[in-house]
Amino acid sequence: MITNIILITHQKGGVGKSTLTFNLALNLADSAKVAIIDFDAQGSLLQLKSTITTMDILESPADLDSISTLGYDFIFIDTPPYLSNSLPQLISIADLIIVPTKAGVLDLMAINSTILMIEERRRLDNTLIVLSMVKPNTTLTLDVLIELNKYDVHVAKTQISDLVSFTRSVVRSGLGKDLKAKNQIDSLTREVLAKLL
Ligand SMILES: Nc1ncnc2c1ncn2[C@@H]1O[C@H](COP(=O)(O)OP(=O)(O)OP(=O)(O)O)[C@@H](O)[C@H]1O
Ligand SMILES: [Mg+2]
Repeated sequence: MITNIILITHQKGGVGKSTLTFNLALNLADSAKVAIIDFDAQGSLLQLKSTITTMDILESPADLDSISTLGYDFIFIDTPPYLSNSLPQLISIADLIIVPTKAGVLDLMAINSTILMIEERRRLDNTLIVLSMVKPNTTLTLDVLIELNKYDVHVAKTQISDLVSFTRSVVRSGLGKDLKAKNQIDSLTREVLAKLL
C-alpha cells in the first residue's frame, strides 16, 4: 500500500492551513482511507477528533518515519505557524507540500523562509502554492503576480475564496450546501491528486 503524505505548511499564522487541511482531507475521506496528523501543539484539529467519523485525526508520532507505515491512503499533516524542529524532516518525507497564502504583496513576502527551507531540501517541484482566503471580486494585482513569479514554484489554478462556510466547516464537519466552496475544494483536490501521480 502506498501512503501519500501531504504536508500543509507556512510559517506565517492564520493563512488557512488548518482549514484547508481539514477540507481537503474530508473530501478524500469518502473514497479513501484518510488521516490528519496535527503537528500544532495547540492541537486545533485534534480537538475535532470525536466529531469526525470518516477519517482519523492523530497526534504527531515520535518517529516521523513511521508515518508512511500507518496504513492510510492519504495522510495530511497540519503544521504550526513557526519553525518547528520536525519541519525539515516533514518536508523531506512529504510527497506533496501545500503552502497556502493570502493574496497580498506583504503576505507573499512572508513566504520566503518557508520556500527557502523547501528549496534547501530540493522539494520545490513537489510544492504547490495555494492562494487562500481570496476576497470577493478581487483580481490578482500586478504586484502580487510579480511577487508570486519570483518563486520558481507551481501555483494552484484553484483559488480558495474568503467564505464563511470555510470558517464554519470545522464545527459543522463539512461545507454544507455552499456549492462555491465545495467546487473549489473539489477542484483543488483534483490538482492535488494530479500532482501526486
Ligand atoms: N477560506 C476561508 N474563508 C474564510 N475564512 C477562513 C478561510 N480559511 C480560514 N479561515 C478562517 O481564518 C482563520 C485562520 O484560519 P486557520 O486556522 O485555518 O489558519 P492557520 O494557518 O491554520 O492558522 P495558524 O497558523 O494559527 O494555525 C480561522 O478563523 C478560519 O476559520
Ligand atoms: Mg492552524
